[in-house]
Amino acid sequence: MDQTLAGKTAVVTGAARGIGLGIAEKLVRSGCRVAAWDIDLTPLIDAPMGQEFRQVQVDITDLNSVTAAVETTIKKFGTIDILVNNAGINGPTVAAWEYPEEAWDRVLAVDLKGVFLCCRQIIPTMRKNGSGRIINVASVVGKEGNPLAIAYSAAKAGVIGMTKSLAKEVVDDGIYVNCVTPAMTETGLLEEMTADYIAMVKAKIPMGRLCTVSEIADMIAWIAGPQCSFTTGAVFDLSGGRATY
Ligand SMILES: NC(=O)c1ccc[n+]([C@@H]2O[C@H](COP(=O)([O-])OP(=O)(O)OC[C@H]3O[C@@H](n4cnc5c(N)ncnc54)[C@H](O)[C@@H]3O)[C@@H](O)[C@H]2O)c1
Repeated sequence: MDQTLAGKTAVVTGAARGIGLGIAEKLVRSGCRVAAWDIDLTPLIDAPMGQEFRQVQVDITDLNSVTAAVETTIKKFGTIDILVNNAGINGPTVAAWEYPEEAWDRVLAVDLKGVFLCCRQIIPTMRKNGSGRIINVASVVGKEGNPLAIAYSAAKAGVIGMTKSLAKEVVDDGIYVNCVTPAMTETGLLEEMTADYIAMVKAKIPMGRLCTVSEIADMIAWIAGPQCSFTTGAVFDLSGGRATY
């Protein structure tokens, strides 16, 4: 069994389902203890709770809530070595000139401010340790821009910018900050989309298929591990050739 991350503790946000759950499971399989942070832990009610897996209820848009989640995690596991900022929402599919202001605020709050708050509250622990890994789940949409998704496109581009800025701030503390930019991924959300829409998205991807959760989880586990030792502030592509930069 791959035990590359043995002895490490990770926080994965949005880990109750979808891509975040896949990342959390992969990190546990790599020997990591994982705090699964989510605003809604319902999908995990029946999940087996091993010693190396802990559920933490949190709203990443709220500073006090994030502070409390950090305390709970450190009380349970002692420290935090790895932060995967995965929690995110899409927002409505609406033209910019009709996009509701409240939806803009909510998407930016979860997808951009939430990443900032988690970094802000966890970095002091990593600085004390003199090491740490932060991996942000952005999206190919942050590079390319999707129509009818102005807030999501802006927030994910913001996550890419934040990754590059933060990486330079904490490099001397031994903390490396990178992000991944997946294309549309095979998750339960696909059931809510029409076959035509999925076909349209696939047509933009030279490999002619969607990304898989395990492809994202495997790449993140590698970025979090010792073999990824000379890369920070980088954007790891997962778009099947859609974005070649
Ligand atoms: N699914 C895709 O095709 C795709 C493609 C590229 C990037 N991404 C990104 O991957 C990440 C995960 O996407 P997913 O498809 O697994 O989504 P999902 O909706 O299945 O899961 C997101 C999780 O985040 C949690 N969450 C939402 N708001 C929160 C908050 N305020 N505080 C704490 N937790 C919160 C939700 O409860 C949920 O469990 C997102 O950042 C998304 O933008 C997804």
